[in-house]
Amino acid sequence: MLEIKNLVAGIPGRTIVDGLSLTVKPGEVAAIMGPNGSGKSTLSYVLAGRGDYEVTSGEATLDGDDILGLDPEERAAKGLFLAFQYPVEIPGVATMTFLKAAMNAQRKTRGEPELSAPDFLRRVREAAKSLSVDPEMLKRPLNVGFSGGEKKRMEILQMALLEPRCAILDETDSGLDIDALRVVSAGVNALRGKDRAFLVITHYQRLLDHVRPDTVHVMSKGRIVTSGGPELALELEKNGYRDHVDAA
Ligand SMILES: Nc1ncnc2c1ncn2[C@@H]1O[C@H](COP(=O)(O)OP(=O)(O)OP(=O)(O)O)[C@@H](O)[C@H]1O
Ligand SMILES: [Mg+2]
Repeated sequence: MLEIKNLVAGIPGRTIVDGLSLTVKPGEVAAIMGPNGSGKSTLSYVLAGRGDYEVTSGEATLDGDDILGLDPEERAAKGLFLAFQYPVEIPGVATMTFLKAAMNAQRKTRGEPELSAPDFLRRVREAAKSLSVDPEMLKRPLNVGFSGGEKKRMEILQMALLEPRCAILDETDSGLDIDALRVVSAGVNALRGKDRAFLVITHYQRLLDHVRPDTVHVMSKGRIVTSGGPELALELEKNGYRDHVDAA
């Protein structure tokens, strides 16, 4: 579903993602772990099409179609979703308004009619309830003054509403309390299915206890240096990255 081949990317004058290859199959949950600064967030930004990063060489396709040449909106319309490590605050835009615009923009590119107001409200309320998001929060400007954990839950709420084909979750577990980690994990698990893939970036096994990955990949210095199954994450928790990073 998501196929990355020899991707080299970064900021002007600095290569950060350095020859990275990774394939994520439909239905797969792939975890990416790796030391601070190894380029995990940069990879997610490059895939999502954030403007300040540039691709030097390599390919990335979603369902066989190139995504690197597309605008961020077009990538989203193709079903790519990124939950940010640091969700951005958008003053002046009510969360509800944002969610409606995002959902309808996607429906439009799929050739579906806009949601009616009651349908939209019903969906948002259901998703908010299942993720323990206080409905009052939806009236506030997006992410403004939200606590760290509230922002992370809001990212998963957006994911649940947008039903992406491929979701990249960048440290969605960081900042979550124990109960919120369970709620968010249940939200991710509820969306798992044979037509959807997840790329889950995390530092800790505790998320993977709840969201069991099919594959685990270690990223170091801009590339994947080791891949394995769920047992790899347990080994990393025990021994750290040294063996893998030195080997690279
Ligand atoms: N816009 C930028 N300007 C300058 N340096 C950048 C920029 N974006 C990323 N970098 C640098 O690239 C490297 C990789 O950063 P990145 O955020 O991708 O790491 P990460 O693997 O997500 O780390 P963490 O685990 O701490 O989240 C870091 O050294 C970072 O300082
Ligand atoms: Mg990061």
